[in-house]
Amino acid sequence: MIVYLNGEFLPLEEAKLSPFDRGFMFADGVYEVIRTYNGNLFRYEDHLDRLRRSLNFIDLEYDLSFTKDVIYQLITSNKLDKNESLIYLQITRGNSVPRSHKFPHSFVPTIFISATQIKVNETGRKNGISVISLEDLRWKRCDIKSVSLLPAILANEEAYKKGAGEAILFRDGLITEGTHTNFFAVKDEIVFTAPEGNQILSGITRKILLELCKQLDILISEEFIKTNELKAFEEFFVTSTTKEITPVIKIDSFTIPGNKPGRLTMKLQNEFQKLTMMN
Ligand code: PDD
Repeated sequence: MIVYLNGEFLPLEEAKLSPFDRGFMFADGVYEVIRTYNGNLFRYEDHLDRLRRSLNFIDLEYDLSFTKDVIYQLITSNKLDKNESLIYLQITRGNSVPRSHKFPHSFVPTIFISATQIKVNETGRKNGISVISLEDLRWKRCDIKSVSLLPAILANEEAYKKGAGEAILFRDGLITEGTHTNFFAVKDEIVFTAPEGNQILSGITRKILLELCKQLDILISEEFIKTNELKAFEEFFVTSTTKEITPVIKIDSFTIPGNKPGRLTMKLQNEFQKLTMMN
């Protein structure tokens, strides 16, 4: 595999970082996950905007004007032209020696980009997945796409151990989002999802989903779903770059009526697919 690290295209084995990198020591960095459809980057400008916002939030200046060329070069170098690629891009505040909580005076940010073949859980996307609900133990700036993901991966691991495909998180009885997805519920033909703000990541797939709802005259309510009202909803789904629109058919011990993906969920999934085909 060829990766891009700090200005160089390198075989993965030769890509080396200092152990004093602040991404490694403090999770002092941000990232993006982007994918291609038909070999073309999907909603790249949206991802770039979000990355700029994340960088801005952590007070890290970085010129991103060259990254698109690097990504396409990585796709070619890794012979992914005939497949769909998943792009991982991470920027940290670089090295500071000795370890210090204080931002370094002068530093060179670390940038790492990889392109790998994407694996989509087709079965889950078609038949739906089960999820578990867990308390949201993350920090209060979930709008920043920070590499500090420990509470998210711990929750995801708990879901995995219980045979679930994702954990949906709640804070004070309100569902925020999944560990790496946004969460949606449907009732009386209205699509509900948590509002933008510091409690959730502003997902690009979430944004597209809301655009699709508007185009299809489907009503949207951006309000928190209460954990104790889940059973009043008819359909659930999660969204992300990697999971696209994946139906949820079971939450903890509650199986949705019919035990299969909901009608509106599948309609939206179908519309989303049309969009990707045109990409
Ligand atoms: N995660 N919420 C969280 C906490 C996420 O980490 C993600 C994405 C999303 C969905 O965002 P988008 O639709 O822009 O992919 C929501 C990526 C895929 C990851 O960490 O791998």
